[in-house]
Amino acid sequence: MRLVFLGPPGAGKGTQAKLVCEHYRIAHISTGDMLRERIARNTPTGQQARPYYERGELVPDSIMLDMVGERLGEPDCRAGFLLDGFPRTRAQAAALDGKLVAAKKSLTSVIMLVLGDEEVVRRLSGRRTCSNTDCQANYNIVSVPPKVEGKCDRCGSDLVQRNDDQPEAIRRRLDAYHRQTAEVVDYYRSKGLVREVPGTGSVEQIQQRIRDALDQR
Ligand code: AP5
Repeated sequence: MRLVFLGPPGAGKGTQAKLVCEHYRIAHISTGDMLRERIARNTPTGQQARPYYERGELVPDSIMLDMVGERLGEPDCRAGFLLDGFPRTRAQAAALDGKLVAAKKSLTSVIMLVLGDEEVVRRLSGRRTCSNTDCQANYNIVSVPPKVEGKCDRCGSDLVQRNDDQPEAIRRRLDAYHRQTAEVVDYYRSKGLVREVPGTGSVEQIQQRIRDALDQR
């Protein structure tokens, strides 16, 4: 199974992608997590990406294509993968097509999580993330609180607010989504790959909708 997850920032892509990957035993490739890990370690890629990331702008395609191209070549991707947050531009979608064609493979489905801007802002303002870059578990002080305030349920590390979850960066991310990523959705729609899933309701309800959409394909 080879999947792409699209949707506005804060739609629940990361939350749902982790559950889908556990269920179908496929590799979870979150470009946001990969960037945060490189930024935290201050690698050359992290240094290049940081200013774009912190402003809430898309990181240049050249950086993203190298990073994702390398990741897709790793052995755990042979059994299938879920791309969470990639592709976000037409150039990224074209590069992914090129890679798949060269490997004589194709995408199984594109899951599009649908959520309005107002709910996006509400969710992102309440999001807290595990500060341990190997964990990066997600919580929400309103809807998905941790058992102990400020601590990760999984590893006990402190929970922090992401740098790009500040109001101005949230606005820019939404803008980038509507200006640049919407055309990726149209591109996959024209290929008949898009399955739209409402992003409202509980985490479990949304997970069931996604599995139903995937099992019906
Ligand atoms: P990335 O990390 O991909 O951020 P994003 O797309 O903005 O998505 P988020 O991680 O903010 O949200 P999500 O949809 O995963 O929702 P989540 O599950 O966390 O990218 C960050 C940045 O990296 C970009 O801005 C860009 O700079 C760069 N980047 C990444 N990929 C790139 C690319 N391909 N090209 C160029 N640049 C790239 O949920 C959100 C909150 O809601 C959480 O608090 C969660 O607990 C809560 N929640 C989840 N489900 C529910 C529910 N059902 N009900 C109530 N609350 C819920």
